[in-house]
Amino acid sequence: MASFYVTTPIYYASGEPHLGHAYTTILGDVIARYRRQSGDSVLFLTGTDEHGQKIQEAAGVQGMSPLELCDLMAGRFAAAWEELGISHDRFIRTTEPEHAGVVRALLERLRDNGHIYEAEYAGWYSVGQERYFTEKEIGPERVDPIAGGPVQRIREKNYFFRMSSFQERLIGQIEENPDWIVPSGRRNEVLGFLSQPLADLSISRPRSRIHWGVPIPWDRDQVTYVWVDALTNYVTASGAIDPDAPPARRGFGNPLPEGPPARWPADLHLIGKDILTTHAVYWPTLLMGADLPLPRRILAHGWWVVDDAKMSKSIGNVVDPLELGRIYGADALRWYLMSEMATGHDASYTPERFLVRYNQLANILGNLAHRAISMVIRYRGGAVPDAPADRLAERREEALAGYHRGFERHRLHEAFGAAMGLARDANAFVEETEPWKLARESGSDAELDAVLATLVHTLAVLAAIFAPVVPQRAEELASRLGLPRIPAFAELPAVEVGGLPVAAKGPLFPRIETD
Ligand code: MSP
Repeated sequence: MASFYVTTPIYYASGEPHLGHAYTTILGDVIARYRRQSGDSVLFLTGTDEHGQKIQEAAGVQGMSPLELCDLMAGRFAAAWEELGISHDRFIRTTEPEHAGVVRALLERLRDNGHIYEAEYAGWYSVGQERYFTEKEIGPERVDPIAGGPVQRIREKNYFFRMSSFQERLIGQIEENPDWIVPSGRRNEVLGFLSQPLADLSISRPRSRIHWGVPIPWDRDQVTYVWVDALTNYVTASGAIDPDAPPARRGFGNPLPEGPPARWPADLHLIGKDILTTHAVYWPTLLMGADLPLPRRILAHGWWVVDDAKMSKSIGNVVDPLELGRIYGADALRWYLMSEMATGHDASYTPERFLVRYNQLANILGNLAHRAISMVIRYRGGAVPDAPADRLAERREEALAGYHRGFERHRLHEAFGAAMGLARDANAFVEETEPWKLARESGSDAELDAVLATLVHTLAVLAAIFAPVVPQRAEELASRLGLPRIPAFAELPAVEVGGLPVAAKGPLFPRIETD
């Protein structure tokens, strides 16, 4: 059994979950479910980012302690993921004591390796992004280049990580591994960034200014820079580092030592394009400095925009994923997000497109299920005939190949396009074979049996390939077909449908009334 470790970013515990967070988390969930159905042992991690200036200030504004705010918001995120059918194996919070231990162990390792020094620093800081930007990046307007928020001039003593000394190694890593950062546009963006000399990374803040963080182990007057703290969550959750062990046995060094089966390195980090530099530059160089293996892949997706504008509280155009989920069902939202966005590119949220996507589920997949099940009941008393189900065999194979190719290439919209294509063709097969005519003709019994068995077999395949994206409805479909459970991908070619007791219920995807 192969092992697969996939992560989402950990979300700031200062704001409510919105459509953008929901997108990355659903993307992670769909990939995790796909891998489980492929037979892999999956670790799917999500969580909340709870330290730093942003949280400290947000708590102050709301008259709470930082931890009170984090407890509240971590609960909101966890509840949101529950509502949206997210199947994470672990929800990490960076305020967990175990995590602080791993952060300290990582910093000590970097220091022991000679990669840390102390210096006075002056620069432009964005609390919104929790990052310094250069004079050039903030431009004459002096705003953070990612969200346009304010920046502040800061001069203080910091500890620095010699990130600059890893520039060549990082460029080599990217050049030798074309699929390390996907899609390729994002890879080029990072290479472009690396064509300029790489600066060192400030990894601490004076406690007098920011107290909400992990203290630097050798200097109690400084706390760890929140991005160093946050990125380390991926290692904490992997179980690769034991902060309580003596330094020589903590789990650094490549290859990892014997011990409990650690999940490091991650197979896939999912991120939005806004946090590409932190994940594709800061994180890998920190790992190099600590002698830890690099993640196997970084997938940076685009942004959901509304009327061409980024969703933001100040514009007031933030889409609430939970409201959509409550009205149309979590599965409808999941399908919309996965089928509508070309993985890697920006997409525009509109209620009209949501409806178009929903209607695909209702009119193509739902309709096929309804027709097939009703006919098995009407013509065969509700038991699927034991007959060859091979009429659409080639079409099924072709769709499965397209589906798996979509996942391999991280183009999930294509994978689900292939899945919907199969449902569409199965509907066309019903039109062509006209089972209602076969039912009236004498001598067509065997033919009708084969048509019905073919339809049910195809629906079993559809239940399996739609399950990662619409898990609840796919479960329901499998149960209406009389299947004991959703088949694993490997079982598909040989699913036995003869004799299955089908059951009719209301529409799988009820029609939405709209004004
Ligand atoms: N806490 C950091 C991440 C630390 S990871 C070690 C952070 N948090 S965040 O709450 O701002 O979430 C950012 C992530 O949310 C983005 O990378 C992206 O995955 C998702 N999205 C936020 N807005 C988005 C859109 N409008 N569209 C799509 N996804 C976006 O950054």
